[in-house]
Amino acid sequence: MTNATSIATDMASNALKGAYSFMNSPVAPEVVLVPKKSLLDWISDGYLALALPVVAYWCFSMIFHTIDTLQLAEKYRIHPSKEVAARNKAGRMEVLSEVIFQHVLQTVTGAVVLHFDAEPMTGFEARAMWEWRRSLPFWVPNEVIYFGYMYGISLLRVFVGFCIIDSWQYWLHRLMHTNKTLYKMYHSRHHRLYVPYAYGALYNAPTEGFLLDTCGAGLAAILTGLTHREQVLLYTFSTMKTVDDHCGYALPWDPFQWLFPNNAVYHDIHHQQFGIKTNYAQPFFTLWDTVCGTKFHGFEEYERAQRRITIDKYKEFLSKREAEKQAKISKGITSKKDQ
Ligand SMILES: *[C@@H]1O[C@H](CO)[C@@H](O)[C@H](O)[C@H]1NC(C)=O
Ligand SMILES: [Zn+2]
Repeated sequence: MTNATSIATDMASNALKGAYSFMNSPVAPEVVLVPKKSLLDWISDGYLALALPVVAYWCFSMIFHTIDTLQLAEKYRIHPSKEVAARNKAGRMEVLSEVIFQHVLQTVTGAVVLHFDAEPMTGFEARAMWEWRRSLPFWVPNEVIYFGYMYGISLLRVFVGFCIIDSWQYWLHRLMHTNKTLYKMYHSRHHRLYVPYAYGALYNAPTEGFLLDTCGAGLAAILTGLTHREQVLLYTFSTMKTVDDHCGYALPWDPFQWLFPNNAVYHDIHHQQFGIKTNYAQPFFTLWDTVCGTKFHGFEEYERAQRRITIDKYKEFLSKREAEKQAKISKGITSKKDQ
């Protein structure tokens, strides 16, 4: 290392230490509130939280659409592609226009809510960290306070947001299945897709899409008091998770399917006739299904061993079911002939 670089390194590390040393000062840092700079120059964080989920929905589902059309991952496909057209009761154009309508509705609703939000401010953080330093009953490094305050709290709030979305969606979704009127009026629309595909994730009756997805996410943001930046994270992440749940593939290298046991296969079961009264939990965890005993029973043992249901076991299960069905049909034909 040359002398110059070593001096530069020392200076940088001193600056870093200095950056946290305000917490040790006997004098409280002054609070001077100024408008917070947005993540991107050309759009406020509030509008980014509305726009990015829509962009992410289409970009992410177009990746799956490409994998589908170019047949890039046939091994991991949950259902053969010919089933998409044969079993689905909604055409591609209908799905496309309904999803676009829902995106417009959710963006307009978000913009109206945003209109009443205060402008995000900054300048209070140093004071808050300084107070944390004094009120903590045990010693922790200043760095931990800094990252805990600046990022830890945000991640925690977003995680609580996940739990709120999950609870809201589980109970509403379950109600839509237990009440026949509600099912027929609203939720049956989403179930016209027996073989889900990525951009069909938000194919819903408009009222249901609004109640389940838009209100669910909005409620999570309001109850946890998310900042606009945290909303960017929560909305975009949960949108991508929903797309992933409907993607039609069980991909071994898909981070969503690794992180969450509630994956594409788990939700696919719910879209089949044999599983429609189970696996209501969505989009993140399987906790509510476990607690309420609404989890599909066929895979529990396997899931306990693997933490998730994999494509191989699921395909094995599907082909066994199909074989049994065919056997029953041909038996029915022979017994009719016998009579
Ligand atoms: C189902 O929901 C409808 C509409 O909210 C309601 O009028 C009806 O009483 C409910 N039925 C049952 C069985 O709960
Ligand atoms: Zn359903």
